[in-house]
Amino acid sequence: MAEIKNTAKTVKLNTGYSIPVIGLGTWQSQPGEVEKAVEAALRAGYRHIDTAFAYGNEKEVGQGIRASGVPREEIFLTTKLDNPWHKRAPEALQRSLANLGVDYLDLYLMHWPSSTDPEDLSKHYPDWDFVDTWREMQKLMDTGKIRSLGVSNFAIKNLERLLNDPSCKIVPAVNQIELHPGNPSPKLVAYCASKGIHCTGYSPLGSADSPLYKNDTIKSIAQAKNRSAQQVLIMWGLQKGWSVLPKTVSPERVKTNFDVDDWSLADEEVAKIDAIPDRFKVCGDAWLPVKVFFGDDE
Ligand SMILES: NC(=O)c1ccc[n+]([C@@H]2O[C@H](COP(=O)([O-])OP(=O)(O)OC[C@H]3O[C@@H](n4cnc5c(N)ncnc54)[C@H](OP(=O)(O)O)[C@@H]3O)[C@@H](O)[C@H]2O)c1
Repeated sequence: MAEIKNTAKTVKLNTGYSIPVIGLGTWQSQPGEVEKAVEAALRAGYRHIDTAFAYGNEKEVGQGIRASGVPREEIFLTTKLDNPWHKRAPEALQRSLANLGVDYLDLYLMHWPSSTDPEDLSKHYPDWDFVDTWREMQKLMDTGKIRSLGVSNFAIKNLERLLNDPSCKIVPAVNQIELHPGNPSPKLVAYCASKGIHCTGYSPLGSADSPLYKNDTIKSIAQAKNRSAQQVLIMWGLQKGWSVLPKTVSPERVKTNFDVDDWSLADEEVAKIDAIPDRFKVCGDAWLPVKVFFGDDE
């Protein structure tokens, strides 16, 4: 079998920079444990770390990076503009850089298309939305502190609005969206591909207490291949063509989740996983002051 080196694989973004296809997720990774997870991941060979201002762990992620001894320039580091900061993007960027202890980001994402009022998180600004935020984020490129700019949780409807607005000069390099067999979003993935936007899949394992581990199709494929359900889910995402962000705080799982070289799923196995009918979403939009999902991604 030809060598398969997923752990070293990257995808070229529309900015010319390359994103490693496996990144360590850090949502719900607590200070005290996330430093060690990041350090273990980088030592194991991960070169892509995903965090966000909203996760409250940027400082510890930065500590983990420094503890690993891996040079900054070898790491693809992503963080995200938080919803209540949409009118203050320059300040938010400065805070994230200071938290992380770095002088540039590889990727800065608008976390959600929700310009939430910081005075009342149940309200959306009446005079500002994600198009205004993107206009301001584009200006951040002049600082030289961001290599690629992207969005997250953008459905086709919102991407269309953004891309068709005259103020949109930069096509997002990435749309980071929920992607696993329970939320495969083929229309959205195809739409992004048609616009040169790379998709990164979040919650690739189905997040905490994933129902996917009880799924008979996943279980039987994992058993037949002598692989864990997690490895099968990660491999499925990679073979679908997006990058994946498996999260763990366990240094042992960091390693087993990265054991994805020199094996693959057969086309029929990918097709069987594609055919799993059960749908679920880890991240809905009920907690936001504005609807961002429209059920039109399939
Ligand atoms: N842009 C966004 O709005 C957004 C939203 C959600 C997530 N994300 C990003 O995507 C990342 C991944 O998503 P996620 O955190 O929701 O979920 P996930 O990566 O699908 O699943 C993480 C869960 O699986 C467990 N796990 C990981 N490896 C395992 C293994 N080998 N065996 C058993 N359990 C395992 C983890 O527990 P342990 O830690 O205890 O191992 C954790 O409970 C996030 O961390 C974040 O970086 C972005």
